[in-house]
Amino acid sequence: RIVHLADYRPTDFVLERVDLTFELDPTETKVEARLIFHRREGVDPAAPLVLDGDDLTMTSLLFDQIEMDPARYTALPESLEIRDLPESTPFEITVVTMINPEANTQLMGLYRSNGIYCTQCEAEGFRRITYFPDRPDVLAVYTINIIADKAANPLLLSNGNFLGGAGFGPDKHFAAWFDPHPKPSYLFALVAGDLGVVEDTFTTMTGREVALKIYVEHGKEPRAAYAMDALKRSMKWDEEVFGREYDLDIFMIVAVSNFNMGAMENKGLNIFNDKYVLADPETATDQDYANIEAIIAHEYFHNWTGNRITCRDWFQLCLKEGLTVYRDHEFSADMRSRPVKRIAEVRHLRSEQFPEDSGPLAHPVRPTKYREINNFYTTTVYEKGSEVTRMIATILGRDGFKKGMDLYFERHDGDASTVEDFVKCFEDATGADLNQFALWYHQAGTPQVTVSSVYDAAASTLSLSLEQMLPATPGQPNKEPMHIPLRFALIGDNGAELDASIVTGGKVTADVLHLTERSQTFVFSGISSRPVVSLNRGFSAPITLHFEQSEADLAHIARHDSDHFARWQAITDSALPVLTKAARAAQAGEPVAVSASLVDILLTVAADEELEPAFRAQALALPSESDIARELGGDNDPDAIHVGREAVLVALAKAGASVFAALYDRHAVTGAFSPDAASAGRRALRNAALTFLSIAEGDPKRAAEAYAAANNMTDLSQALSVLAHRFPEAKETAATLQAFEARFADNPLVLDKWFAIQATIPGAQTLEHVRSLMASPHYAAGNPNRVRSLIGSLAFSNPTGFHRKDGAAYSFFADQILDIDPRNPQLAARLLTALRSWRMLESSRADKARQALVTIERGPNLSTDVRDIVDRILKA
Ligand code: ARG
Ligand code: ZN
Repeated sequence: RIVHLADYRPTDFVLERVDLTFELDPTETKVEARLIFHRREGVDPAAPLVLDGDDLTMTSLLFDQIEMDPARYTALPESLEIRDLPESTPFEITVVTMINPEANTQLMGLYRSNGIYCTQCEAEGFRRITYFPDRPDVLAVYTINIIADKAANPLLLSNGNFLGGAGFGPDKHFAAWFDPHPKPSYLFALVAGDLGVVEDTFTTMTGREVALKIYVEHGKEPRAAYAMDALKRSMKWDEEVFGREYDLDIFMIVAVSNFNMGAMENKGLNIFNDKYVLADPETATDQDYANIEAIIAHEYFHNWTGNRITCRDWFQLCLKEGLTVYRDHEFSADMRSRPVKRIAEVRHLRSEQFPEDSGPLAHPVRPTKYREINNFYTTTVYEKGSEVTRMIATILGRDGFKKGMDLYFERHDGDASTVEDFVKCFEDATGADLNQFALWYHQAGTPQVTVSSVYDAAASTLSLSLEQMLPATPGQPNKEPMHIPLRFALIGDNGAELDASIVTGGKVTADVLHLTERSQTFVFSGISSRPVVSLNRGFSAPITLHFEQSEADLAHIARHDSDHFARWQAITDSALPVLTKAARAAQAGEPVAVSASLVDILLTVAADEELEPAFRAQALALPSESDIARELGGDNDPDAIHVGREAVLVALAKAGASVFAALYDRHAVTGAFSPDAASAGRRALRNAALTFLSIAEGDPKRAAEAYAAANNMTDLSQALSVLAHRFPEAKETAATLQAFEARFADNPLVLDKWFAIQATIPGAQTLEHVRSLMASPHYAAGNPNRVRSLIGSLAFSNPTGFHRKDGAAYSFFADQILDIDPRNPQLAARLLTALRSWRMLESSRADKARQALVTIERGPNLSTDVRDIVDRILKA
């Protein structure tokens, strides 16, 4: 069954109130739902009420408190239809279902994770709890009663404010919660169990005190301190930057160890993958801290962008997700280094979203059809959705963007809205016409922009010719030209920015050039000497730019641009052709030549103490093997790409040995550990230096020493990675892997790192190692984090291991997908996207990848999730 946006219509019945009573039991939980409805005005009086279900068993059904005549309803596992209902008066349906949380391995609906009852309802999990109009445009006020065994479940939580609780029989107790804010079912949450808590308070801008509680497994409380700090900073930031205040007396976060995704913004009761809550210096890396900060903020920000204003239907997912990612990006940029954050965002967008947008799974930010909504929680909806929001801010400017956001909050508070509603707020608030711009929501594919420039000294003009090409994507063969806002600067000899305000050929506002035609030539006058053009500064538009700039021009940008993102981009643009050439040479069996000027730029940047260490670390992290594959654009041989890139790394390491040695000494971070961005940047730079020194020295000794000296997980895991990835056969490596395993044997999140480091050891032999790790007592096929850290790391982050020439890793992968799918379809479907770029591989690998996909396609009883992905990957 395919759902189409064009088929949207409101429900026939309006839901007025929801009362739920849960009698919790690990295997037989009883759910009583009392729902008050009335028929919507104008709806056919004969129309039945049809409620969604998924795998449900009903034990009783009352109509206005009286048992219902079976002739009036049809109860199936996937739906409940009730007929002969009142024409206009409200009525009450009381439905009882029995569910088995312990057996719920899908982790959708109500399940148990390590003895804790918890829920995940977005997108369509609520229907696995009770029959319901399970769609985001049905908003109601909920009262929740939870009854459970007291000893095992001292804690009984749900959305909203706590009403009260008491004993219930000899060994049970109950608690009641009331959420005054109307909400859709996907925001419902329940948690019960025995957990520790970290408590704090936050005073809002109008002086209300909010109780903050983060619940974690007993003994892990100290590891929730950073999350609490991030939460308070998020609450403050949303008041200061977006004028948004929290709206309940209590805000709770619960960390669970079995969770399909990162976290969930349930009203007043966020539920998190514990990976994005728990941190201390001994067990969390700087990246973990940054992720926790970003995800705590993301879920908190959803309270306004998602919960107060929700989505009319799931096609509008980017309305809350793209916008909320934009908000968390801005938050992190304010908390940390803005340019470094931007570089990381763009790296992520290019490595995850660009391949999605250019492959068989490409879809618009606002799709128009889906077979399985779970498969649309994608980097296109999230990250490209965020970029589209950022472009609105770029086009309208800071004030215009703020006016539009304020109007959005004012006009749509309490609504289930659409992307059109959102865009209209910016038009109404500023008078801007965003009609062409809105194509960003509707046309899939990454625009390709080709640029050339001509400087005319006699006329003192610079002509910039731009052409946009929009690649065909599944279902969208032809595209209209888009409105592409490109931040730019014309940089003079001395690094100064030239006045670019006298221009013909198109619209330029301040430092933004608006490309709106398929091809357009902008002519800048009064330019007295040839400038270097810095284009798409700050990555103002999510495009691929083809602009042949000389090495000298790129070096000029890398040295002088006041936009540090643009500097990093220039360094990357200098490196990419060297890396692609190296890959081609390796593929042809020829020696790899490394340009001296690239080495020179990189070492100059590395040694430049004026630059932030984190920025330098980003510059030294050359484009990845998958970046190079994308640049090559097809017929890819991952082994050749690896060999070519390695040759470049070796050349850089050897030429820069003394620079790296100096950095390594200079940037040792002393004193007590602090996760702040500046310290994290120094650790990143020093660990980059460690990698290059180890390469130059060809000896595991230095990394083994670094491991022994490390007092935090960033340094520990980096040293272990250098050992495992660079010296897999060394005795130091085996010993260190063992020591690490023993030291962290009782910490699952750290063991995830141990699995991931080993699963990403380059080379064909890693597959066998992964197989043996699956037999480790630490492996847990039912835990999504563990599966992702082993199988996911091999498939997504180990090109030479996954794409080994004989195709053995593909068939292993197919077996794994078929094994995981019956337990957890969402996890299986997400992993399967690792094969989305199979057509980019050289033909023998592509052929073997296709065979693996066909094996999956022929699997027995495939879930809709996996069926949808495999069909699309094979078809396009
Ligand atoms: N709304 C959650 C978040 O962004 C993610 C929910 C994902 N749901 C899913 N079915 N994949 O923060
Ligand atoms: Zn979100």
